[in-house]
Amino acid sequence: MNSTLSVSALSVAVGGKTVVNNVSLTVAAGEVVSLLGPNGAGKSELVLAVAGVIPKTAGSVSVNGADISALAPQKVREAGVAAVPEGHQVLAGLTVDDNLAAAGAALASAELELSKDEAYGVFPELRPLSRQAAGSLSGGQQQMVALAQALVSRPRFLLIDEMSLGLAPVIIERLVDVVLALKARPIGIMLIEQFTHLALEISDRCYVINQGRIQYEGSPDRLKSDPEILHSAYLGVSEPAAVGQAVSV
Ligand SMILES: Nc1ncnc2c1ncn2[C@@H]1O[C@H](COP(=O)(O)OP(=O)(O)OP(=O)(O)O)[C@@H](O)[C@H]1O
Ligand SMILES: [Mg+2]
Repeated sequence: MNSTLSVSALSVAVGGKTVVNNVSLTVAAGEVVSLLGPNGAGKSELVLAVAGVIPKTAGSVSVNGADISALAPQKVREAGVAAVPEGHQVLAGLTVDDNLAAAGAALASAELELSKDEAYGVFPELRPLSRQAAGSLSGGQQQMVALAQALVSRPRFLLIDEMSLGLAPVIIERLVDVVLALKARPIGIMLIEQFTHLALEISDRCYVINQGRIQYEGSPDRLKSDPEILHSAYLGVSEPAAVGQAVSV
């Protein structure tokens, strides 16, 4: 049976303001689903609420029908749902290997070694860096560590917030390859991505969220042909090469 992550009528309030409003969406195993929308739309708060990091004011989250809404972040990961928050939040003072070990702290040691090995298998370029402090790595390498940390819990569903933000095109290409390889496993992936065209290229389905509400759900092709909604999905950048900001490899 195909497993599914379901978010049903989820609302989240921050500082008394509803920032995620009655959102329902699904991600199936082996599917890349993008969640697009302008700055402040509620994408990151949605990810944090699904991951159990911030409270929900209404609605539920389930995996294959099993309600995980009330679980703490560690339990959400154990239920198969791992989030990679915005801004590759690695433990800067710890080595790469200790970052992975910290992510797998709940695992028995033999299992942790296996899980770390699998994560290094996805990112072989991290192996020679395993004894380096994560904070000394480039932005792209740190994003790989953040993704590898999520992989240590062997997720069935992966929520990646701003995967390519600030990274060089060559690194973004590498991360896209990884996303597609994980999809083939089959992991279900929710991708939040500033480069709308890139997201649409690799997504099976997409959602557009604006002011906390889902505005569009459907195929990337249909979204591409709807200029008004496509416009609202943009953050003002179209492709990596067009970005003027500093990039990091
Ligand atoms: N700590 C906070 N205190 C008050 N308001 C907040 C806080 N964090 C987020 N918000 C508000 O919640 C809303 C949703 O923010 P969120 O970070 O989820 O947006 P986003 O879609 O991820 O945007 P971006 O594309 O900029 O990352 C915004 O209106 C934001 O101002
Ligand atoms: Mg965000």
